[in-house]
Amino acid sequence: KMGLFTYDPGFMSTASCKSAITYIDGEKGVLLYRGYPIDQLAEKCTFLEVAYLLMNGELGDKHEQAQFEHEIGQHAMLHEAMRGFIDGFHYDAHPMAMMVGIVGSLSAFYHSELNMDDPEHRRISAMRMLAKMPVIAAACYRHSIGYPYVYPRSDLSYCENFLNMMFSLPSQKYIDKDNYIDPVAVKALNLLFILHADHEQNASTSTVRLASSTGANPYACIAAGIAALWGPAHGGANEAVLSMLGEIGTVDRIPEYIEKAKDKNDPFRLMGFGHRVYKNFDPRATIIRKACYEVLERTSAKDPMFDLALALEEYALKDEYFIEKKLYPNVDFYSGIIYKALNIPVDMFTVMFTIARTAGWVSHWLEMMAEPGQRIGRPRQIYTGKDVRNV
Ligand code: SDX
Repeated sequence: KMGLFTYDPGFMSTASCKSAITYIDGEKGVLLYRGYPIDQLAEKCTFLEVAYLLMNGELGDKHEQAQFEHEIGQHAMLHEAMRGFIDGFHYDAHPMAMMVGIVGSLSAFYHSELNMDDPEHRRISAMRMLAKMPVIAAACYRHSIGYPYVYPRSDLSYCENFLNMMFSLPSQKYIDKDNYIDPVAVKALNLLFILHADHEQNASTSTVRLASSTGANPYACIAAGIAALWGPAHGGANEAVLSMLGEIGTVDRIPEYIEKAKDKNDPFRLMGFGHRVYKNFDPRATIIRKACYEVLERTSAKDPMFDLALALEEYALKDEYFIEKKLYPNVDFYSGIIYKALNIPVDMFTVMFTIARTAGWVSHWLEMMAEPGQRIGRPRQIYTGKDVRNV
């Protein structure tokens, strides 16, 4: 304790807010969305059913869910003027740089006519972001490979649409065996999006809440969250895991990298390991690990990276440093393996996380905005500078 404040480098000891959306027990590896265990939701729901739950507090009945998904389809189109904005990026711009810019620019296309004091207008803003995120994401990818943009279709589900907007070619309908909408891929995407949809007050969600507390418009708040998610210590870890596995290369080089990760003077961290809250296991990693086997089997994408990942996990879990520091595989350790099997480019992995986490971010934004008397967030500091007043 120093004076008035306890100093905590990761703001862990002081609760920053109250929320009814997600509950985590880091010791027991428990994760609940609106009170429902993550493994049940992952087993039984689609991503949009979980998005409805996060935003509305309860699972929708058949009619409510159908209405919700119809409205998502209605909001999926992008303003045609946004094409110019997307085209303005160099072809090799990192898609996360594009996402931060394009989502922020939604403020200029969709916000002026809405009044954030009106709950219905707030709901429309949230629906717009959930609907447009995969469209923007796929457009970023298509821009990077110089392919024409593909519009969302009303006859496809949320995840089918995303795959279609990413990979379909105007020269062929979506029937080519290499390009058809593979149900294994759709199931895997729903699962990955559910597992990444929300996670209490993680860095990017806290960023969205802090920005929201100033009254900034929702698109700017979500763009701030996307910027925070990009960091390799956070959502950028899934891309970093694949680069790390590529650098390690072979199983016999694992011990060398485990030693590097333990060396305090070496900035190298074992990407995909450790967590600010989970100190025994990340329940999402357990679910994704199982899905990896299924996806790789069904897509027959025999992936040496997966074997290397399994070998690295086995080695690290036996290492006394990792046991003592309670470092276990987190959600990002395996997600990249599945995205790779679905032919998602590595630099799009954090964009995938962005699509999923938009459901959580907009839910937290709605929760905050509905709370009367919201006050501006204002973290304090421990001053360590000098004071020349009495010199
Ligand atoms: C996500 O908050 C969320 O909920 C995030 C997230 C979400 O859904 O929003 O779950 C998503 O961001 C998952 C995390 C993805 N990041 C990575 O996989 C990057 C690699 N992991 C590390 O950078 C790290 O583990 C963090 C950032 C995840 C957590 O950092 P902390 O809280 O500082 O870790 P810690 O306090 O548990 O560390 C304990 C010790 C430290 O050493 P000492 O200071 O005690 O000597 O373990 C060391 C750390 O240096 N350590 C690692 C390590 N992670 C922690 N050493 C080697 N490799 C690692 N990965």
